[in-house]
Amino acid sequence: MRRPSTIAIDGPAASGKSTVGCLLAERLGYLYFDTGVMYRAVTWAALGRGIAIEDEAAVTALARQLKIEVMRPTVDDGRQYTVLADGQDVTWDLRRPEVDRSVSPVSAYPGVRAALTIQQRRIGRKGRVVMVGRDIGTVVLPNADLKIYLDATVEERVERRYREVVSRGEPADYERVRDSVRRRDQIDSSRPLAPLRAAPDAVVIDTTPLSVEQVLERVLALVDGR
Ligand code: DC
Repeated sequence: MRRPSTIAIDGPAASGKSTVGCLLAERLGYLYFDTGVMYRAVTWAALGRGIAIEDEAAVTALARQLKIEVMRPTVDDGRQYTVLADGQDVTWDLRRPEVDRSVSPVSAYPGVRAALTIQQRRIGRKGRVVMVGRDIGTVVLPNADLKIYLDATVEERVERRYREVVSRGEPADYERVRDSVRRRDQIDSSRPLAPLRAAPDAVVIDTTPLSVEQVLERVLALVDGR
């Protein structure tokens, strides 16, 4: 059996998509592409340039012209990749709470999605890729060879996101993390365009009781047709 070449992984915030996606890509020798960073890069650039997040036209224009490059890590500081926005290394800035707060409204703008989806498809077409996001199996790569939807209870995801913030040595407030995850869930799954949803042909895995290794093992079994 031929191995799937394009693998789509979708799911809500902190469902384990990035961790599992990155490890899977490493195992297979595929490119790992986390599409969330593109929405985050537009959001970070808008905040930095004093563009109001509510200004849909200005944010959309920015998404069309911002040059976003995602490449293998250029610094050995625990990052999964390096992200450049118009040539500037913004990899860690993209994880800031102000980006978390504004990225869902930015990613609901149709013009922003159109601009970024084109770039994502271009990368997907080359194959040998694990692409992670919210709408990869439904919109970006509807013909992906394998579609996986990772889920977990909101309590478990808040817990994971909180531990992640703490592990980065940043000030973490549990209630704030919880509110931010809930708010993003709500916006990401209720937006009219490309809402967070499992594709009908996706394999859904509830990761709540599973370790990263266990999730990876299940995904590898799917890849190998076991
Ligand atoms: O996966 P993440 O938390 O880095 O994603 C950040 C935001 O970007 C998320 O709240 C929704 C949006 N997003 C999206 O709408 N479509 C994608 N394919 C990836 C992310």
